Amino acid sequence: MLKLSQLATAVALVVAGAAATAGEVEVLHYWTSGGEAKSVAELKKIMQAKGHAWKDFAVAGGGGDNAATVLKSRVVSGNPPAAAQIKGPAIQEWASEGVLANLDATAKAEKWDTLLPGVVANVMKYKGNYVAAPVNVHRVNWMWANSAVLKKAGVAGAPKSWDEFFVAAEKVKKAGLIAVAHGGQNWQDFTTFESVVLGVGGAKFYSDALVKLDQKALTSDTMKKSLETFRKIKGYTDAAAPGRDWNLATAMVIQEKAAFQFMGDWAKGEFSAAGKVPGKDYICAAAPGTANAYTFNVDSFAMFKLKDAGAQKAQGDLAASIMGTEFQEVFNLNKGSIPVRLNMDMAKFDDCAKLSAKDFVSTAKSGGLVPSVAHGMAIAPAAEGAIKDAVSQFWNDDKISVADGVANIAKAAATK
Ligand code: GAL
Repeated sequence: MLKLSQLATAVALVVAGAAATAGEVEVLHYWTSGGEAKSVAELKKIMQAKGHAWKDFAVAGGGGDNAATVLKSRVVSGNPPAAAQIKGPAIQEWASEGVLANLDATAKAEKWDTLLPGVVANVMKYKGNYVAAPVNVHRVNWMWANSAVLKKAGVAGAPKSWDEFFVAAEKVKKAGLIAVAHGGQNWQDFTTFESVVLGVGGAKFYSDALVKLDQKALTSDTMKKSLETFRKIKGYTDAAAPGRDWNLATAMVIQEKAAFQFMGDWAKGEFSAAGKVPGKDYICAAAPGTANAYTFNVDSFAMFKLKDAGAQKAQGDLAASIMGTEFQEVFNLNKGSIPVRLNMDMAKFDDCAKLSAKDFVSTAKSGGLVPSVAHGMAIAPAAEGAIKDAVSQFWNDDKISVADGVANIAKAAATK
C-alpha cells in the first residue's frame, strides 16, 4: 500500500513530466471571419486537450497579405511565432532562409507520405524534408448563388457559361437586386479574374498564361476575351464594392441582397455559420465554364525553429494534430474546405464538399487540376503581387483599354 508521501511524490512526478513536455504554441493566422474563427477554434481545442497553451496570433485581412507583413517583421526581429499560415511557393522562400523547423520526425511517425496526394506533399517539402503541415483543400473556382434571389429574378438555375451568366445577371439587375456581391481588394479581384480565365480559356490556357507566365498566352486573343468578360462583370457589382471584405460580400448573398459571389469555398463556412443549407438556401456551382476544372488552394502551417524543448514538442503535436483524422473532419466541416488527408470518411460533409472531393480526384487525372494564383499556390510572391495589381488597375479604371490591360499584365508577369 502506497504511503501518502509516496503517492504525493508520484503525482508530483506525473505533473512535472506533463509540464516538461507541454509547451506554448503561438500561431499566426488570418482566419477572423465567422466561419474561419469557428474552424481555427477547433485546432485550439485539440492542442489544449494535449496540455499545450495556445497563443492566438490572429491578423485580420482576407487573403493573408496583412499576416504576411506582420510575420516578416516578427522573423526579422528574431522573434518568430511557433507556427504561421504559410502556403504554396512562399514555403520554399521561407525554407531557403533556414528558419523553418524540420517536421520529418512527425511526418514519418504519422506516415504523411501515404496520406497525402503527391502534388500536395511536394509543396510541403523543401529539399525533400517536410517543413509545413497541410490543413485542407479549398476549391477556388466556385460561384455561390442565393436560391430565393434567383427565383425572384426568374433565373432557372446556376448559369453554366459566361453568356448564360450575363443573361441571368441582367434579370437580377432588372429585379432591383445586386447581381454580383464583390469586395474590391486585389486578391478578390484576382479570385474572380482567374475563374474567368479558366472558364474562357480552359485549364491548359490557364496554366500557360497564369502559371507558366508564357508571354504568347498572356498576349493572346483568349486573354483579350478573358479581360472583356472580366470587365463586363464589373457592371453587375454595386458602388460600395471597393474595399469590402470578402465575408461581407458573402453576407449580401446570404441575406438575399445579392444573387452571386465568385469566391473560394471558405465562403461556404459563412453560409454554414449562418445555418444555411446548400441546395435549399443557396447553390454551389462551378464558376461558368469551369465544371471540368479545379483551382486548388491548400492552407498549411509552417513551424519556425525554436530552442525550447517544450515548444518543440508542442510544434510536433501541432503538426500531428493538423493531419489527424479528428481535426481533418471537424475543421473542414466548419471551414468549407475538404480534408487534405486521403481516404477520409466524407459522410458528414455536404453535397458541395462531396462534389469538391470528387472533382479534386477527377481533375487530377484529367489535367483540369490547377493551382490558384490568387491564393498563393502558383507563382513566386513578387510576380503574383505585380500581376494582381495590374489586374486590379484594369478592374478599377474603365479608361484602361483591353489592349493596354493585356500589355500591363504581360509586363507584370515578367517581374522577378
Ligand atoms: C485564402 C485562405 C483561406 C481563406 C481566404 C479568405 O487565401 O487560403 O483559408 O482564409 O483566404 O481569407
